[in-house]
Amino acid sequence: MKKILITGGAGFIGSHVITRFVKKYPDYQVFNLDKLTYAGNLENLKDIEGHSNYHFIKGDIVDDAFVSQIFEQYQFDGVIHLAAESHVDRSILSPNEFIFTNIVGTVNLLNAARKIWDDAFKEKLFYHISTDEVYGSLGETGLFIETTAYDPRSPYSASKASSDHIVRAYFHTYKLPVVLSNCSNNYGPFQFPEKLIPLAINNIKHMKQIPIYGKGENVRDWLYVEDHANAIDLIFHQGITGETYNIGGNNEWQNIELIRMLCEIMDAKLDREPGTSAELITFVKDRAGHDLRYAIDSSKIQDQLGWSPSLDFKLGLEKTVDWYLGHEQWMDHLTSGEYLNYYNKQYGKR
Ligand code: NAD
Ligand code: TYD
Repeated sequence: MKKILITGGAGFIGSHVITRFVKKYPDYQVFNLDKLTYAGNLENLKDIEGHSNYHFIKGDIVDDAFVSQIFEQYQFDGVIHLAAESHVDRSILSPNEFIFTNIVGTVNLLNAARKIWDDAFKEKLFYHISTDEVYGSLGETGLFIETTAYDPRSPYSASKASSDHIVRAYFHTYKLPVVLSNCSNNYGPFQFPEKLIPLAINNIKHMKQIPIYGKGENVRDWLYVEDHANAIDLIFHQGITGETYNIGGNNEWQNIELIRMLCEIMDAKLDREPGTSAELITFVKDRAGHDLRYAIDSSKIQDQLGWSPSLDFKLGLEKTVDWYLGHEQWMDHLTSGEYLNYYNKQYGKR
């Protein structure tokens, strides 16, 4: 029986990964270590919270004594490390938390794994989840491949790049069995409404302005979150130790085009006159250091592990809109209180 630690399991992607593993692998004991920051929400895990192979541990990966104590206590065989501060705009407003959680937290987990595994690495694995943002910003052409040189440009991406380097250093120096993946922008249910798609859905629903940074020409490569969870499952079980896999949707959209499509979908779902939601589009001051374009070449994971994105983007967006419109309470819990302070600080009172 395998004991697996998943960090950040109460967040957006982590909750999909936990739900998948708990249901699909009843022989595994799945431990979710999460600090429950503003982004962590146990409501995301309602579906599996009563399962006997699921265990929640509340705690902070920055606390090294605590991290080493839980590794000693539970003797995990595998780690899937997702816990992070994940929002670029927050990293611009206040970078320090990103350095602590994303870098120091990762080092604490690596040290704890190394200590309990004590060079007996057979059947052990430390899987570090990262982002395509570590590669920097592309011009109008080209794709990120696994060997693209790192060129992070926000405090968020720099902290993730730093953690990636340290994970690889533990592989080379100590032979710690690691695997990494760098994924493009995810979307889908349970994403915190500070990120573009759920923020826009929430604003459109309430007939609030949709803030588009700069001219809306920046390009992201969008992937449905379940496709990412599927890739994580494959890499955890079949990935080659020491390797990195890029994961992407082969699905590039300029922000403004994406938002226009979302507005059309929302008009239809909310029975609004066509064009009503698009009137909410408001161009605002650009993000500082805003990366122009991210795009992933995912041929390695496609060729070696047989993975591919499953969902057409328009269908994925419709599914996502349906989910958010059907989970009003979930959204209302998150968008009261502290969220308003953040929103006003980031966007000004609108
Ligand atoms: P998220 O912000 O939704 O969730 C992060 C989770 O980590 C939360 O539950 C939070 O409570 C927890 N956490 C934060 N600090 C912690 C700490 N010090 N100790 C313990 N737990 C802590 O993030 P997400 O979007 O689900 O991203 C998960 C991972 O995937 C991150 O490592 C991120 O860099 C990476 N990633 C995200 C995307 C994306 O589009 N969202 C794309 C590629 C990679
Ligand atoms: P985001 O969802 O924050 O993801 P990331 O910055 O990690 O790619 O942003 C996606 C794109 O949308 C990015 O180019 C910034 C832009 N954006 C806006 O134009 N307005 C917003 O209010 C937000 C949150 C993002």
